[in-house]
Amino acid sequence: MKINDIDLRRWKEYEEIWTDSLWIIPSRDNSGMHTPEYHGNFVPQIPRQAMLRFTRRGEWVLDSFAGLGTTLIEARRLGRNAVGIEINEEIAKKALQLVKNEENPYKVTTKLIVGDAAAKSTYQGLGKFQLVILHPPYWDIIKFSNKKGDLSNATTLNEFLEGFKRVVELSSKHLDKNRYLVLVIGDKYSEGEWIPLGFYTMRVIMELGFKLKSIVVKNIEENRGKRGQRALWRYRALKDGYYIFKHEYVMFFVKEKNK
Ligand SMILES: C[S@@+](CC[C@H](N)C(=O)[O-])C[C@H]1O[C@@H](n2cnc3c(N)ncnc32)[C@H](O)[C@@H]1O
Repeated sequence: MKINDIDLRRWKEYEEIWTDSLWIIPSRDNSGMHTPEYHGNFVPQIPRQAMLRFTRRGEWVLDSFAGLGTTLIEARRLGRNAVGIEINEEIAKKALQLVKNEENPYKVTTKLIVGDAAAKSTYQGLGKFQLVILHPPYWDIIKFSNKKGDLSNATTLNEFLEGFKRVVELSSKHLDKNRYLVLVIGDKYSEGEWIPLGFYTMRVIMELGFKLKSIVVKNIEENRGKRGQRALWRYRALKDGYYIFKHEYVMFFVKEKNK
């Protein structure tokens, strides 16, 4: 079964596709309808790399935390059909507008469902997907909305992980066997302690029958606000004995069992 459009006889020609586990991305791709405006969106290069390696043109991609639609916009460019789920209708509305304004050269279908990705009813009528991308809130680091069900409102780590587990369970029901699920997440620092959200969520996915294929470490670009505070962060780090976050994870899993 072929899971991408790479012709291995010409493998030297695919320079655009990354194969190393350290991704230093110098700047975000802000071309077309991509915008850095949403605090908490990922750089388009992440879904792009995932789709190029783990889908074929015309296949279906599900992004269960769609945000401002980065995956959906990128999917249009690459000729992949895509469905996004987003709990915050204001953001979903904006995302839909951006997606509509992005050219659609391959005439693919792009849909955005406003709903809770941890609720079964949200997935009603959806078919099968060949790639699932999950970029959840990093627990409560950024509060995305006041909505009940928004994972950034979870009051405990356990509640966050339970909600996340539900999203993985429901999303993966729609993922074909032997296809990829991609998790993009960072850790959290709270009350003097590093909370390894990346590893906790990785474990949730593995316990649901997925095989871990890769952990990629991606750099965090400093936004302008943070740059101004660099000295303060450095002082705090030196004083309190920790390291300042400069990385996030992009983890790749394969669905082994048909749960
Ligand atoms: C880290 S952001 C994703 C950003 C996205 N990758 C982008 O580039 O715009 C997480 C998103 O998940 C949404 N969210 C939180 N809980 C959710 C849930 N239970 N179901 C669906 N969306 C949810 C938030 O509103 C937020 O937009």
